[in-house]
Amino acid sequence: MKFGKFDDANREYVITTPRTPYPWINYLGTQGFFSLISNTAGGYSFYKDARLRRITRYRYNNVPIDMGGRYFYINDNGTVWNPGWSPVKTELDAYECRHGMGYTIISGKKNGLAAKLTFFVPQDYDGEVQQLTLTNESDAEKSFSLFSFAEWCLWDAQDDSNNFQRNFSTGRVEIDGSVIYHKTEYRDRRNHYAFYSVNDSIDGYDTDRDSFIGLYNGFHNPEAVLAGKATDSFADGWAPIASHYKKISLKPGESKTLVFILGYVEMPADQKFEADGKTINKVKAKEMIAKFDTPEKFAAGMAELKAYWDKLLGILTVDTPDERVNRMVNIWNQYQCMVTFNLSRSASYFESGIGRGMGFRDSNQDVLGFVHQIPDRAKERIIDIASTQFPDGGCYHQYQPLTKKGNADIGGDFSDDPLWLILSVSAYIKETGDWSILDEMVPYDNDMSVAQTMLEHLKVSFYHIVNNLGPHGLPLAMRADWNDCINLSCFSDTPGESFQTYTNPKFAAEGGYSKTAESVMVAALFTYTGPNYVAILKHLGKDDEAAAAQAEIDKMKKNMMESAWDGDWFLRAYDANGEKMGSKECEEGQIFIEPQGFAIMSDVGKDEGTAEKTLAAIDERLNTKFGLVLNNPAYSKYYIQYGEISTYPGGYKENAGIFTHNNAWIICAAAYAGKGDQAFKYYSEIAPAFTEETSDIHKTEPYVYGQMIGGKDAGSDIGRTGKNFGQGKNSWLTGTAAWNMVAISQYILGVQPDFDGLRIDPSIPSAWDGLTATRQFRGANYKIRVENPSHICKGVKSMTVNGKEVEGCVIPYEKDCKEYNVVVTMG
Ligand code: BGC
Ligand code: NOJ
Repeated sequence: MKFGKFDDANREYVITTPRTPYPWINYLGTQGFFSLISNTAGGYSFYKDARLRRITRYRYNNVPIDMGGRYFYINDNGTVWNPGWSPVKTELDAYECRHGMGYTIISGKKNGLAAKLTFFVPQDYDGEVQQLTLTNESDAEKSFSLFSFAEWCLWDAQDDSNNFQRNFSTGRVEIDGSVIYHKTEYRDRRNHYAFYSVNDSIDGYDTDRDSFIGLYNGFHNPEAVLAGKATDSFADGWAPIASHYKKISLKPGESKTLVFILGYVEMPADQKFEADGKTINKVKAKEMIAKFDTPEKFAAGMAELKAYWDKLLGILTVDTPDERVNRMVNIWNQYQCMVTFNLSRSASYFESGIGRGMGFRDSNQDVLGFVHQIPDRAKERIIDIASTQFPDGGCYHQYQPLTKKGNADIGGDFSDDPLWLILSVSAYIKETGDWSILDEMVPYDNDMSVAQTMLEHLKVSFYHIVNNLGPHGLPLAMRADWNDCINLSCFSDTPGESFQTYTNPKFAAEGGYSKTAESVMVAALFTYTGPNYVAILKHLGKDDEAAAAQAEIDKMKKNMMESAWDGDWFLRAYDANGEKMGSKECEEGQIFIEPQGFAIMSDVGKDEGTAEKTLAAIDERLNTKFGLVLNNPAYSKYYIQYGEISTYPGGYKENAGIFTHNNAWIICAAAYAGKGDQAFKYYSEIAPAFTEETSDIHKTEPYVYGQMIGGKDAGSDIGRTGKNFGQGKNSWLTGTAAWNMVAISQYILGVQPDFDGLRIDPSIPSAWDGLTATRQFRGANYKIRVENPSHICKGVKSMTVNGKEVEGCVIPYEKDCKEYNVVVTMG
């Protein structure tokens, strides 16, 4: 069942009912100011850091769901309604929500009055601009009252939601004409305020929540709205809000357009106030308001936003026989990559914005899906991340975007972290050909006095693995690897201990974590990423270092075949007792997904047929119609030696959920191994555009990936196996966005940036006749046509570039050539 449809020409998803199976959201803003907005206008705004600079309030995990947003209320002679249906939930005569690239349009109609709301964050602008057009579509004159509504958050979202003894007494506002300013703590120790404006006169306002809503009422029945009149309240402590009140009369056919702005302003210390030393200096706010105070300026801002996305999405376009693939690659997957790049895992409808900053592993992986869009921003991000590394190659697991400093509460010692840096730097060089990133001086632990080149950072990353091996010569598992929930040194039996940061004191003598527990996943990630480091060294002419690094990779592969090959797939780990995890010998959790793809792509045990055997086992044991589960069978009891993983009921999250992020690694591996049909099968099980038809089961947005889908074991814990199978959770902020972008565009469609240039090596469904693609790459335009006359999955028989036959499948780079016409014939 569907709740809307794709409008590819406009790059929009059109939601046709407000009652989606979960709030379906969009993100506004790509630079400093961000808003989350649901299909009923719920959500919130923040500046740069969703925890430390929260602008409006939102109520997570609320009943009913999705409470807090930018609401417009209309009281039309006693009929009270919102254009986005919620929170009043008066049945509308018509409703539509269009989520587009950086904007959302919500339209509602009731009793002959039509309201169209367009929300966006303009380029280079710290505010959300909202245009409301009201049209009287009836044949009689209409008089009604309109109320806007936003609730201020007192900046630090964490403090805001628990420090009530203080916060109920600190809220401050200022009102100047039609502009309501939020200035809590501005006098004392903040250099920022926020405002909510409208480009017209108003007939009243409210700035105190209880006066507007009423202590025992809710967002669905605010007293002022029911009364049809604002109370002109002035907040002084308690909960400051901003609500404009306007009486409007429209003749039949007449329209009125208003532009509202929710803005954020920072002021230099010596210019914070007017001469009286009290009134806030509003110069910057007024400039911001003037920028979008007419519908014409609004339209120009929207046009600029569209041009921005035209440009970004013009860098890679594909035309394949499947329109759902085209829609994912050309629009939504790339869009999601921008969002995950910007927000890491901080703020979504599942991430509260206060829990997590930027993740070392997460943000490095996000670069993989984003780097072609704005390589300069990717470079800056890579340097920020690498700056939180330690001289021995270890690193902080997370950092805060406002300070860019490592987060000491979480600390480090996640065994996979350093390797992702090698991958992101390699991806940057492959995209841009800009080797100079290796010469950048990058601090350790943000201390510039101990800065080293980026190349040195790669070296310490690589050797951090080599220097931390366990008894089988496999990497130590430490606190966790990519799977945050495999915590082999935790042995937690006390509530409240964080599985990621707590290590059992019994390992104190070993330096904090077990020196026995080893991660096969990190071993495979090492053999997959390591060759990039070797290629970089060779390019720089450092042949000895390259040979030494290659020897470590070869040794790791040998160790894997000796101690980590289980006969039909690779083991997952050795636990702290030296026992196998992810083996046929185990009672549960016999096979895990994570090591397999990287091992296949590194040709570990290739001659012994490991790839074929592993892919067959994956198909048999892990695959389902909704994607590949993480492990099988699911754990049905608590295995204290494994950590968080078995705390989840079977079928959810890391315990046999369909963790879409690592599905991509198998898609890549199947494609790499030449099995394009198998790769595409797995791709189409999870790609959102393909799951649209089952939105009632899937529940989350059909235009973006979520982190997790209920696996085949979901419900097994309560004897109802299959319950919630296929149900998505944790949409938007997931490494799946980047990795599936890589999987489809590079591994399946085969347009792969490489160190020496663009490589074209598709691994597609055999039924396809071919495909075409355009790619802007290192300053030139590539037009690529792939023909598949023999209907195979993989193999390039010949390639011509600008009419000339070329050896192999890497397009030779010519300095002055700006247009490349490439024809690839598979066979
Ligand atoms: C979740 C993981 C997440 C981790 C880190 C765990 O509880 O299951 O998916 O990565 O927390 O916050
Ligand atoms: C989500 C986290 O953000 C990511 O870092 C981790 O790899 C996965 N969960 C798996 O545990």
